Amino acid sequence: MAGLEQHGDGGHRRRVVLFSLPFHGHLNPMLKLAALLHARGLGVTVLHTCFNAPDPARHPELAFVPIHETLPDEATSPDSDILRKLLALNAACEAAFRAALASLLRGGRRDVACAVVDGQCYAAMGAAGELGVPALALRTDSAAAFRNMLAGPQLRDAGYVPIKEEQLDEPVPGLEPLRVRDLIRVDGRDTDEHCSFVASVAGAVRASVSGIVINTFEAIEAAELAKIQRELSLPAFAVGPLHLLLGQPPPVEQSLHEPDRGCLAWLDARPPRSVLYVSLGSLARVDRGAFEEMAWGLAGSGVPFLWVVRPGSVAGGAAGAGAGAAADEAPPLPDGFEEEVRDRGKIVKWAPQREVLAHAAIGAFWTHCGWNSTLESICEGVPMLVQPCFADQMVTARYVTHEWGVGLEVGEEVVERGMVAKAVREAMAGGGGARMRERAHRLQMQASAAATSSAMDGLVRFILSL
Ligand code: UDX
Repeated sequence: MAGLEQHGDGGHRRRVVLFSLPFHGHLNPMLKLAALLHARGLGVTVLHTCFNAPDPARHPELAFVPIHETLPDEATSPDSDILRKLLALNAACEAAFRAALASLLRGGRRDVACAVVDGQCYAAMGAAGELGVPALALRTDSAAAFRNMLAGPQLRDAGYVPIKEEQLDEPVPGLEPLRVRDLIRVDGRDTDEHCSFVASVAGAVRASVSGIVINTFEAIEAAELAKIQRELSLPAFAVGPLHLLLGQPPPVEQSLHEPDRGCLAWLDARPPRSVLYVSLGSLARVDRGAFEEMAWGLAGSGVPFLWVVRPGSVAGGAAGAGAGAAADEAPPLPDGFEEEVRDRGKIVKWAPQREVLAHAAIGAFWTHCGWNSTLESICEGVPMLVQPCFADQMVTARYVTHEWGVGLEVGEEVVERGMVAKAVREAMAGGGGARMRERAHRLQMQASAAATSSAMDGLVRFILSL
């Protein structure tokens, strides 16, 4: 970045203020962006919630300031779904974020070049705008998912939302290759509430944001990125894959749980591409019935597997573990399952996922299609089995299977053991799996090329121009 003007009017270093919602899959990309901006000469202050606060000791180069929010239970409870959490966090963080940003501005407005805020935090976008600070929105999902959000109000007017059973397989004009069933949704949630959340995000982006930063790369989403820029008349910076830009060794991440590194030694003893890695990310919950179908499908496939069974990932799981079960206790496995799979299956509560995906023994990844997991899989050339659970995961699953051709569906809507076993065998040893692997390898090459691209430099130039 030599040659870039890195100083404000008073000859001071320009500062970027970042704010992420306190989810694992949002905070980690935001902290990676923070480190990359700092490495390019900008001062960085991370405003953060006290709930799930980042550990400043892991990022000595960054300044951390808590916003001292007061959160209602529904923002943090594992029993709240994602929509309830997002609405409650936006409401609870608005005043606290505004106060914290205002207090930073007292140190000198020109020092603060802009605020980069979580793309789901419409409250922070609005508050930054009100304080006269240019806001950039960081999307931690794909460009395609973001386009789906921007189109939310029109989808409702056109009758695609609320989603109707008889329209599930209809293509959605303007959002191809999405069908109605692939649109962002949170099952079982009041549609009005969901539509109002989507409209708030789309509205705040249109009203208060100067640019969009997306953890994606041109080679996989060029068309979607171009449409976003056209539709919003705003620059969209495809700065991903952020974890690749940071290079090796990978930085220590904020983690929900202590990763069980024993699984790496277990993988060491396995032949190349023989193991299926299974994880549904940091937030998704499945019901007990689906969990049992997953288990027996894995058992029936005959394929070795490493399965992350996260505490709280099965609805009713704690009850199944007996009254008083600790919050960090994993849900109980079905009776007889461990005896059935023996050493063929390894179960952990939390895995060092990036190292697992990079391991030679991994043949495929059964994923919920969270955007971080999808990018991590693409970057290691690992084909996927998809089981989207909510929100942007629906969109990403469609792109993985139909646009990029690097994934197969585990089942349609319902997870059933026979279909699971068949899909697992196909992904690991069938002709479909081999073709996906070839395409995944090509995407891996494109992702590595993107990691040396100039998108981040363009973003820094834009920030310094604000
Ligand atoms: C959800 C969304 O679906 C995602 O697209 C959104 O942008 C953030 O919220 P989440 O469930 O957190 O995501 O999934 P994902 O985005 O895939 O992130 C999970 C992260 O946890 C990944 O970086 C993954 O490497 C890490 N992880 C997961 C581990 O390190 N170990 C595990 O055992 C499981």
